[in-house]
Amino acid sequence: MANLHDSILQCIGNTPLVRLNHVTEGLRTPIYGKCEFMNPGGSVKDRIGLPIIEDAEKRGAIRPGGTIIEATSGNTGVGLAIAAAVKGYKCIFTLPDKMSLEKIRLLKALGAEVVVTPTVPPEHPEYYTTVAKHIVKETPNSYFANQFYNQVNPEAHYAGTGPELWAQTDGKIDVLVGGSGTGGTISGCAKFLKEKNPNLRVIGADPLGSLLRGFKETGELGSGEVYKVEGIGNDKIPETTWMDFIDEFRTVDDKHSFNMARRVSREEGLFVGGSSGTAVTVALQIAEELDDPDQRIVVILPSTGERYLSKFHNDEWMRENRFLDEVATDVRKLLQQKPASNRDLVSVESSATIKAVLDLMSDKHISQVPVIEHGESVGSVRESRLMALIIEKSANLDDSINQYLESPFPVIGANENLEFVSRLLGRDNHALLVRNGPEITGILTRHDVIHAMNS
Ligand SMILES: Cc1ncc(COP(=O)(O)O)c(C=O)c1O
Repeated sequence: MANLHDSILQCIGNTPLVRLNHVTEGLRTPIYGKCEFMNPGGSVKDRIGLPIIEDAEKRGAIRPGGTIIEATSGNTGVGLAIAAAVKGYKCIFTLPDKMSLEKIRLLKALGAEVVVTPTVPPEHPEYYTTVAKHIVKETPNSYFANQFYNQVNPEAHYAGTGPELWAQTDGKIDVLVGGSGTGGTISGCAKFLKEKNPNLRVIGADPLGSLLRGFKETGELGSGEVYKVEGIGNDKIPETTWMDFIDEFRTVDDKHSFNMARRVSREEGLFVGGSSGTAVTVALQIAEELDDPDQRIVVILPSTGERYLSKFHNDEWMRENRFLDEVATDVRKLLQQKPASNRDLVSVESSATIKAVLDLMSDKHISQVPVIEHGESVGSVRESRLMALIIEKSANLDDSINQYLESPFPVIGANENLEFVSRLLGRDNHALLVRNGPEITGILTRHDVIHAMNS
């Protein structure tokens, strides 16, 4: 049977709902991902492009051949650009410079003009929305899509995404989890679904640094911090975020969001963006708390991972930003993973007094110290043993440690592997010294290795 479409606009929406099977290991509550990254433009924002333009046409706010202008983190631009291409409008978009290069190139490829602005707070004259409004004033027959205020945005999800979720689940949906940028997606879906099932819980996933969670909990905006996940979180409360329909927000930091987006891609075959990682992290928390196979969680996966191939889907970028949990496999990496405050080798000479050594240990928060003389490891002392000697009156605080030395810590090379290190530390050795060339430059304790194994 023929299955033809008049234009790509008819292919927006009706995205699949797919169960997460691997990142959910050990959890009993099923989680289904709403695959919005499968929209033609790769994100949930395809759904609002056409309704926004049609609304403007209906109200006579734009005439044929006009220009659609928007301040966008990228994906709304794509949604608008696709609809504008089909309907014959031009587009100009302003984008903050923290957005990925792929997004900017994509918007240009879809025929839009792109103006990149600095990532600055809303009161700054170069804020991307302020710049967009300025362009609107200067461009005849132009229309400002205004996704953070335009109620057509959440209404498109009330009319489309919400009913779709209800139909796909046969009305069996207990918890909806999603990020909130304009809030359009989560608000529209939440309103529709709560009208159908007032017991439905709606949980917003908020990046650490965004102000949405704090606002929901205290009614105050507070001050935010910069974060790297794109498309969600806010430094203001948009009029398109219908707060009353969102029950609570949970916070996720960049590192967890990106690592989860990578896992969802690798383990589920769902190639998603960072905001999906934020939402899935929250969905997993809820699944664990519910611990009920009869409840069903739906999590929105808003965008494709393709736009982040030079960012968090790239190991180098993850490493540079310290987001990668690398398993330390050799001594050099183990040393790098020690907290910076604790990385320098602390040693003493055998002429030092017990008092000086105890003071040093207390100051540096360490419980043992190697005795190094002329570059060689000649012994070690432990805080517990020195204290016992003093308490038993077997030694005085002014004595030198010389006569109370214990055996030296073994010295190993920086290329030795973790297995070798573990074997040595598992025996009688409390710590190992690391030689780098002719010099002893590092120390690894049992604590360091246990920390590395569990991070
Ligand atoms: C990657 C990404 N995730 C999530 C969202 C959030 O969607 P909404 O604006 O409907 O809250 C956006 C919005 O631009 C986005 O770009």
